[in-house]
Amino acid sequence: MPPSMSVFLDALNGRPTETTPIWLMRQAGRYQPEYREIRSRVSFVELCKTPELAAEVTVRAVSDLGVDAAIIFADILLVLEPLGIGFEFTKGDGPRIPTPIRTSAQIDAVADEIDAAAELHFVMESIRRVRAEMDTPLIGFAGAPFTLASYAIEGSGSKNYYEAKKLMSGDPGAFAALMDKFARAVAAYLNAQIDAGAQAVQLFDSWVGCLSPNDYRTHVMPHMKTLFAALGKRVPVIHFGTGNPELYPLMQEAGGDVIGVDWRIEFGDAYKRLGDDARLMGNLDPAFLLGPREAMFAEADRILDAAAGHAGHIFNLGHGVMPQATVATARALVDHVHEASARRR
Ligand code: CP3
Repeated sequence: MPPSMSVFLDALNGRPTETTPIWLMRQAGRYQPEYREIRSRVSFVELCKTPELAAEVTVRAVSDLGVDAAIIFADILLVLEPLGIGFEFTKGDGPRIPTPIRTSAQIDAVADEIDAAAELHFVMESIRRVRAEMDTPLIGFAGAPFTLASYAIEGSGSKNYYEAKKLMSGDPGAFAALMDKFARAVAAYLNAQIDAGAQAVQLFDSWVGCLSPNDYRTHVMPHMKTLFAALGKRVPVIHFGTGNPELYPLMQEAGGDVIGVDWRIEFGDAYKRLGDDARLMGNLDPAFLLGPREAMFAEADRILDAAAGHAGHIFNLGHGVMPQATVATARALVDHVHEASARRR
């Protein structure tokens, strides 16, 4: 598809569009009856590792919702396996790393390099299938080094990230060594996804908001810079983080063509902080998917108003669609953003 045929690719490149492009993080997932049906037959990891099924759920999300971009169905933790860090998905509790990485000996044992095209071949195959099946632009993705490191160190999601922070302040050299391994592995993984056909990539720094600005600058930003340098300028990169709006200017300084922001910052303030010509993705609180539609539409309108006059806005939720949402409400949001943004042009 030539770029001018896609409002999503145009917005990524900062070109004005006739409507505001929209896609939803976690647009493929348990809120869809067909997804739940597939999951009743195969585990989550099997689904990720079966390109035929992963491509099917990727494409279904686009046709169910009418969104302007697809995101490849996979998970940020898949890259841990080639690095030698085992993980599992437990029923109900989410991901778990049975042997958390907390000592420098364990960090030394993490692989220095991965062969992403070979070791994560199923993701590349899923990407090739989706590209062959549809014209909608496809986003590849990976977890950002801090979010991956905090999973590896904590062993699961966490409220306070004390173990990760303990390593960060107690043995900054070891922490940096782990971050460096993740930065290089993630770059290799995303470059392989781009080789396979991903037209944009997103870095999910979902847990970075637990950090202070100073710790971000000292312990995270240098590795993000390494990562962005290794990606070059092959495709646009969306740099998403959640939880702490104070970090957005620092994330912007670290790199990325588009900054993805959550609802904890007023969208207009995000432009004030990051610049009128910043390309931003966001930022509806996903909770609005669970309330009355009129409230959701009104909040979407406030976001569109704040973005008016700024080229490159990509509408999204501030975080993923939750299992309690319905396809009909998510579809109504997508239709509303298309109609309401066209009226504003
Ligand atoms: O956006 C999409 O549609 C693409 C698919 C996608 C998944 N995970 C599928 C998934 C993406 C982009 C991710 C990224 C991901 N995975 C992140 C970053 C985004 C975020 O939400 O912050 C994180 C932190 C993970 C790690 C992860 N994977 C968690 C915490 C969980 C458990 C979530 C839960 O609600 O149980 C997963 C599992 C997961 N990844 C599911 C899906 C659809 C649910 C698995 C299931 O079917 O049971």
